[in-house]
Amino acid sequence: VSDINQNAVLDVIDQHGSIRRYKKDPLPVDLIERLVSAGQHASTSSNLQTYSVIAITDETKRGQLFELCGKQKHIAEAPVFFAFCADLARLEHVCVQLGYPHSSAYMENFLIAAVDAALVAQNVALAAESLGLGICYIGAIRNHPREVINLLGLPKLVFPITGMTVGWPVHKPRIRPRLPLEEVLHWEHYHPPLDEALQAYDLEMAETGIYQNRQVPTADKQGQMERYGWMEHSARRAAKVIRPFLKEILAEQGLALK
Ligand SMILES: Cc1cc2nc3c(=O)[nH]c(=O)nc-3n(C[C@H](O)[C@H](O)[C@H](O)COP(=O)(O)O)c2cc1C
Repeated sequence: VSDINQNAVLDVIDQHGSIRRYKKDPLPVDLIERLVSAGQHASTSSNLQTYSVIAITDETKRGQLFELCGKQKHIAEAPVFFAFCADLARLEHVCVQLGYPHSSAYMENFLIAAVDAALVAQNVALAAESLGLGICYIGAIRNHPREVINLLGLPKLVFPITGMTVGWPVHKPRIRPRLPLEEVLHWEHYHPPLDEALQAYDLEMAETGIYQNRQVPTADKQGQMERYGWMEHSARRAAKVIRPFLKEILAEQGLALK
């Protein structure tokens, strides 16, 4: 085993922080293609490669995505927006050509495609970061899926899983602490949440100041809380129902029906 504390890949992984401010400079086409070709090397279920990546560089289109994805400034600012899509249309096409039925309507196939899309996205993220670029995932691509589907011309059996802004960062990434390892790493069998670990992390996150002026509003708790950490923040988020229309739109796209 080489040094477990220091190698180029681990350094890139450990230095990750989402970037939400970008320089205007566009990315050359060959750089964009290199990022996606790195994405293609991710593992993929049975080598089926049930995903597609849409690269959006056109300023007007990026402006439209900005409107559709919660008006997040970094979407308008970043020179490239990737839409990582679960894509069962290609496989269906092959099945039809070869005279096979296709099971694209099953939840399992959608999960395969969604996982594939996420793995590609994370490879692209690491490739970008290894080259000094900054990235930010954009789950808000699912805020108005019908409109995004129309804008990007996605056919049936294709669905946007996540977006990602990519560009040259204006500042260094801010590295966010993560949960204590023992909370997420379970040896041999599952353990319930470790309250001490959660409390320690809650305090650590509160102390970073990340939540300053970013407290999730609630109807019953008014004003700024003194100790507002990861638990309060996450619980407030989890208490809200978000994107309740997804099941319906997936069905319209012919996905996850069975
Ligand atoms: C699937 C996914 C969707 C996300 N969507 C958004 C988004 O719409 N806007 C945003 O600013 N950040 C988004 N993020 C970034 C997360 O907020 C961020 O990764 C998390 O807070 C941890 O911070 P870090 O990436 O800086 O370590 C998303 C992340 C993931 C994995």
